[in-house]
Amino acid sequence: MSIQLLPAIARRLEGKVAVITGGARGIGEQTAKLFFKHGAKVVIADIQDDLGQKLCKDLGQSSSAFVHCDVTKEKDVETAVDMAVSKYGKLDIMLNNAGVFEEAPNFDILKDDPLTFQRVVNVNLVGAFLGMKHAARVMKPAGRGSIITTASICSVIGGIGTHAYTSSKHGVLGLTRNAAVDLGRYGIRVNCVSPNVVPTEMGRKLLKVKDGGEFPSFYWSLKNGDILREEDVGEAVVYLGSDESKCVSGLNLIVDGGFTVVNQALCSFRSSH
Ligand SMILES: NC(=O)c1ccc[n+]([C@@H]2O[C@H](COP(=O)([O-])OP(=O)(O)OC[C@H]3O[C@@H](n4cnc5c(N)ncnc54)[C@H](O)[C@@H]3O)[C@@H](O)[C@H]2O)c1
Repeated sequence: MSIQLLPAIARRLEGKVAVITGGARGIGEQTAKLFFKHGAKVVIADIQDDLGQKLCKDLGQSSSAFVHCDVTKEKDVETAVDMAVSKYGKLDIMLNNAGVFEEAPNFDILKDDPLTFQRVVNVNLVGAFLGMKHAARVMKPAGRGSIITTASICSVIGGIGTHAYTSSKHGVLGLTRNAAVDLGRYGIRVNCVSPNVVPTEMGRKLLKVKDGGEFPSFYWSLKNGDILREEDVGEAVVYLGSDESKCVSGLNLIVDGGFTVVNQALCSFRSSH
């Protein structure tokens, strides 16, 4: 029996319905475009209405919808999830991607403002929790679904982000693992992706790169001449959202070119001796 070649362009999310929080720009926006290319319908949930609506116009009204959603407000998250179900009949993929990085005066806990700390944890961690909760609400009766959260390399190492940001992303990883066990009983997979620094508005803020300034590539330890782009993170999310990862749950998929497995200090010591 002959084996048939696959079609040149395989739509890996054909027929799936997704909600993407923080989908109006940056990693969320590029992931929404990839989801669309792969045949998914997407609900963009964000606080930036103009950007979100423009993206939906580009993607087409039949394949996308925008909903104003502040992920720190449970009612907003509930409405975003319900919109996916009422407009497209179901929810297959929940991407909790909304996030903030607030600059701290310097790397000094004594100068940290508790309100800023709470604001970051509220968006990055509580927002992800609410997304998981409401996605699970509609996925449970269906007996399937994929919940993904955008974490960060700050979920596994200290000293890169602020105290608030690092705490929030470590929290996302813990929550992902717990929810994977809880929701796995109902056929729902729960994973997160952890990118290295990406040249979005947030990435520029994190590395203090001015508008128009060149984005440093030294953070990227895989020497292939590239820096990590939003689309590279999106590809990892497509994998976790697709049936190709049907046996993968509780995973922190680190997209960092090997950055977190390298001890940079020991490497530079070795190369100078
Ligand atoms: N850029 C990086 O270097 C990097 C690296 C690792 C992880 N991440 C994570 O990736 C995710 C996306 O970051 P990005 O770089 O695209 O940032 P970005 O600032 O370009 O985009 C973030 C999006 O989240 C939205 N958002 C912020 N607060 C919100 C809220 N309360 N409710 C709903 N939406 C809200 C914003 O409006 C924006 O559209 C974040 O969770 C971030 O922590 C980013």
